[in-house]
Amino acid sequence: MAHGGLFIGGPRLRVLMLVGAAVRRDEGVVWMRSTFAKALLGILLLACAVAAHAQIDIVPEPQHLVMGQGVFALSRGIRIAAPADARAQWIAAFLRDTIMAQTGIATEVVTAPASARIALRIDRSIHGDEAYRLSVTPQQITIVASDDRGLFWGVQSLRQLLPLQHVARPAIPAVDIADAPRFPWRGVMLDVSRHFYPVDFIKKQIDLMSYYKFDVFHWHLTDDQGWRIQIRRYPELTRIGAWRTGPDGRRYGGFYTQKQIREVVAYARDRNVMVVPEIEMPGHTSAAIAAYPELSCSGKPVSVPSAWSGFRNVDCVGKPGTYTFLENVLDEVMALFPSPYVHIGSDEVPLGVWADCTACQRLAKEHALQGEPGLHGYFVNRIGRFLTSKGRTMIGWDEMLEGGHLDPNAIVEVWQGPDDASEAFANGNRIILAAPFYLDTPINDRTLQDLYRTDPFDDPPYAQHANLVLGGEAPLWSERATPLNADARLYPRLLAIAEHFWNPDAHDWKNFLVRARAQEAWLAAQQVAYGPEDKDIVDYDVHLVPAYRRWRIRAARGYDDLDLHYTLDGSRPTLESPWFEDVLDLYAPATVRIAPFRGARQSQASHVVHLVQNLVLGDSVTFATPPAWRYSGGPLRLTNGILGSSHFYDGSWDGWRGTDMDAVIDLKQPTAIRSVDVRFLVAPGNWILLPRSVSFEVSDDDKTWKSLQTVPLSPDPDGTSTYIRDVVFHADTPITTRYLRVVAPWYGSPLFGVKTWIFSDQIIVR
Ligand code: ACM
Ligand code: ZN
Repeated sequence: MAHGGLFIGGPRLRVLMLVGAAVRRDEGVVWMRSTFAKALLGILLLACAVAAHAQIDIVPEPQHLVMGQGVFALSRGIRIAAPADARAQWIAAFLRDTIMAQTGIATEVVTAPASARIALRIDRSIHGDEAYRLSVTPQQITIVASDDRGLFWGVQSLRQLLPLQHVARPAIPAVDIADAPRFPWRGVMLDVSRHFYPVDFIKKQIDLMSYYKFDVFHWHLTDDQGWRIQIRRYPELTRIGAWRTGPDGRRYGGFYTQKQIREVVAYARDRNVMVVPEIEMPGHTSAAIAAYPELSCSGKPVSVPSAWSGFRNVDCVGKPGTYTFLENVLDEVMALFPSPYVHIGSDEVPLGVWADCTACQRLAKEHALQGEPGLHGYFVNRIGRFLTSKGRTMIGWDEMLEGGHLDPNAIVEVWQGPDDASEAFANGNRIILAAPFYLDTPINDRTLQDLYRTDPFDDPPYAQHANLVLGGEAPLWSERATPLNADARLYPRLLAIAEHFWNPDAHDWKNFLVRARAQEAWLAAQQVAYGPEDKDIVDYDVHLVPAYRRWRIRAARGYDDLDLHYTLDGSRPTLESPWFEDVLDLYAPATVRIAPFRGARQSQASHVVHLVQNLVLGDSVTFATPPAWRYSGGPLRLTNGILGSSHFYDGSWDGWRGTDMDAVIDLKQPTAIRSVDVRFLVAPGNWILLPRSVSFEVSDDDKTWKSLQTVPLSPDPDGTSTYIRDVVFHADTPITTRYLRVVAPWYGSPLFGVKTWIFSDQIIVR
């Protein structure tokens, strides 16, 4: 996603849309199921009572579970028998090691089942892919499956029965579980381009996925803001494409070496998780084009963007060199990833770019393609044929369908909605459902309960084409997810998603919530900074209280035990810094930096609020044309002394689209002024440009105006960096005036049919 060609349907719009989709459901069906589930739960609870209060909290809930009598007491030296083949022995050793880690008890792996009280067995009579049976009695634990995948999931269920604390004789409740997944494709996607996640973080996530029986890690390795996979043949991809310069001038980036990727793939495979690489094409390719400009239609040099979009840089589909490059890249990718699937992205391509390219238009003519969508379709099928020739299956986001004639063997990942899914089904494609599971959606907009109570797979068209639904995926796009707060976006919400992917009958929210909360201690022990169930970690609101010339920072905290440590000089807050809980009032300008801590652990990146002195603090501003409603902060926005960040959606910016900014401030009485500083945001990727000029004018009656100065500017539609520009008027001697006017004409003509914006956050008068 989720970055934005914002103004043509960007992240916020999309989030709303997805939330809409997520809450739509058939209440009747949900009610019936939960009643049925409650009856079942009643029976289970009865069984639990008989079993001496043993609590079974497995997530995802096994499909069939019957409590037994008594407990199996773990003790030192117990033998774990497994078949002699390497994989089964590895699984047994994994069980031995996790028993050690979780309980401190040493067990031993053997091949002969005779003396073993824990036995792993392959038995072909167990039906169903990945199915297993786990039986615990006071005498014996057995895990039986028809293949090693099932065997491993049985071990993961057994792990969830182990007590968390180290006790002398840990007891495992007697139970009989017969289990198998609902869907073969149970994925989690991490975007490592917008923010980079170190290998250890990735491995930790794979451990967690595997614990909750996800079996696909979709690794979104390339995007506009960073190319993250080493390709030997094209070293510039990581030398240049893996690094960007932020609006603060700092270099940001990183990439995975081929050695690291092999290590992650093997690590995941051991844990029943297949890693599916995504190499974005032909859009979301700014980082690749920054490294190899010849990939684009224009061939013009660009830099790796730091804004969350860069849509106009796309691969030229008309040049043969593009295909040579992509095939060479994919060859190296396929050598690293044994997965039968390769994801090629294909989403959010600004097709219009190809309209102005001779090479692209020549190709369209040659193959009688229907305009730019036809070119997209041609490109996708050509890459698909290449992958097929190498024995791989292509996956792409649902825009892959837009050119028509998509190879029915391709797999479509549905992120936009049911209409796109219907199109895929009509074409005979299998799908992976992602739309309802986006985890970049803020927690308060897509809560644990929202996710759990709605089973999107019950909706048409998914229910009607169940044979073409491979399963689902939960993507975490990382524009706003960093290694600091990603855990909280993933957990506990992935628990609800894991359950939908695994168990079609798990619909009892209350039952789930008990089991989900029981995971917290284990997650904490794994160093997972899991998040709130229904709130963001912290939601800040900063406003000026004009009557008191005071700024108030309000923080809505996701946890009651979150402490907000802060500094007033912009330095990094520590546990020693002063702290507040809900409200911080400030009477003087400052650079407030706030860091949320839970215990000793910081839960997300610190938040910075710049408060500045302003002679017109809290004075009303009137506009000839008001700002667009989505980017309009009322009459005090430009005089509230609160500076915006380089994120245009941070709530600090007024925005005018296709019209001039023409602002008048009434100073209430003749006042001496020395300077006027107007701040503008520049983010060409989001169509936000500088005005053509800025005029400063004064008046005593709000009718006749005297011009002080006009500063000419050069808005650059081809620019790639995001920054804030101050345009300043200085008076040699103080000027006394009642009214002040700032006029800033917009760029003047649409770009690619899109009207551009002017964004301003403050007029600072001194
Ligand atoms: C997507 O969110 N653009 C797949
Ligand atoms: Zn082209």
